[in-house]
Amino acid sequence: MNAHDATPTGSCTSVVGLHWGDEGKGKIVDLLAADHDAVVRYNGGANAGHTVVVDGDKYALHLVPSGILYPGKLAVVGNGVVVDAEQLLREIEALDARGVCTESLVVSSRAHVVAPYHKLEDEVREQLLTGGDGKGAIGTTKRGIGPCYADKAQRATAIRVGDLLRPEALREKLETVCRFKRSRLAGIDPGEALDPAALTERLTAIGEKLRPRVTDTTYLLHDLLGKGKRILFEGGNATLLDVDHGTYPFVTSSNCTTLGISTGTGVPGRRLDRVVGIMKAYCTRVGAGPMPTELLDATGELLRERGNEYGTTTGRPRRCGWLDLVATRYSVMINGVTEVALMLFDVLAGFEELQVCTAYEINGERTARFLPDAVELERVTPIYETLTGFGEEITGARKWDDLPENARAYVQFVEAFLGVPVTIVSIGPGREQTLVG
Ligand code: GDP
Ligand code: IMO
Ligand code: MG
Repeated sequence: MNAHDATPTGSCTSVVGLHWGDEGKGKIVDLLAADHDAVVRYNGGANAGHTVVVDGDKYALHLVPSGILYPGKLAVVGNGVVVDAEQLLREIEALDARGVCTESLVVSSRAHVVAPYHKLEDEVREQLLTGGDGKGAIGTTKRGIGPCYADKAQRATAIRVGDLLRPEALREKLETVCRFKRSRLAGIDPGEALDPAALTERLTAIGEKLRPRVTDTTYLLHDLLGKGKRILFEGGNATLLDVDHGTYPFVTSSNCTTLGISTGTGVPGRRLDRVVGIMKAYCTRVGAGPMPTELLDATGELLRERGNEYGTTTGRPRRCGWLDLVATRYSVMINGVTEVALMLFDVLAGFEELQVCTAYEINGERTARFLPDAVELERVTPIYETLTGFGEEITGARKWDDLPENARAYVQFVEAFLGVPVTIVSIGPGREQTLVG
């Protein structure tokens, strides 16, 4: 065989969050989608909220890949995603109503379905964890993500998208599911959420609407690669929320890192050519769990107000703090990041001084390593370096040289510390507010 003929074609790029989510992945996926043929979600579900702003029009996408706003791009919901099928349909309808063509959207038959009882379980579990003292809960988005992934691992109580197309088998499965769940949710009135007949009717109706979109996305993606097409993977959630590599147990229930692409799509990790890590110029977090650089003072509030840091999915105020480069460098390592996009840089304008965390202190010792175990991370004290701030607003900059000298120095500091190039600097939510190097 001619070795040349066997060379695989096509290319793969990944966009992945390096912090605790909401770094601006949606904006960068939209930007990069222009040079790709397909945009693929591989993990998470409607807990994600990705914002894209086009000509002043804002779109908040939860399950639909952010590349949908570019006409002609294939949008793929891979097998690793947990699909709230009703939410997906609502999103499709809302996009159609705004004139966005969603015909190219396809969903894996092997993706798992978030059902109404998953959201109920999520809510109940959070209440139980909270106990009497208001502490202990994870602060989930209550989108049923954890319970759905738990059912996936449990197997006997799982429903996949393909099941929605087989009403009789679905009814049988739902009988089992409801029997199990009733014992777990004893004492709670589930309403129709645990009625097999009502659930079958509801889910079958959705299945019929989704039927033309349901397919084997693994073969689809490999066929595309075989034809030399360019695939863009859109990470939901972010590295520090990864179930294995994040600040466990204050994480989500999927592998949000690039490591999740293989299992979540069937495309092996060695196919990744380019990994774009998305980081904010500071840090934010929604929900509970350690965040070493969190600022519980006026500076934190200023970041929240300037950055409009309120959740895209739940509207909750985000916790804000200085840039944690120890955490960011860990994420660069875990994901195999080849380049970085530095987002919301405009938010830092006006601060006299900017602090960046470059090491931690724990038990009287200094370390440059991130500690993903939540109990350990709670105990670290951040060690900061102080950089000079930049006074003027930068949202109007259109090229690197338009940035003030101190702003450029901040970017160069980040780049040197992380050991990968910063190729994109974002200075506002709009497509045009992007400096590409
Ligand atoms: P994602 O989950 O990573 O896609 O991020 P979100 O969409 O949840 O949150 C990012 C927010 O920041 C959105 O409201 C974006 O419109 C906005 N945004 C993105 N880039 C920039 C930027 O450079 N500057 C400012 N001020 N806002 C930005
Ligand atoms: P995007 O894709 C920010 C957080 C929740 C909670 C924890 C577990 O928009 O960046 P879950 O509902 O997943 O069980 O919640 O994870 N979380 C996110 N925070 N952005 C996200 O997604 C998130 N997805 C989950 O706030 O702390
Ligand atoms: Mg978000």
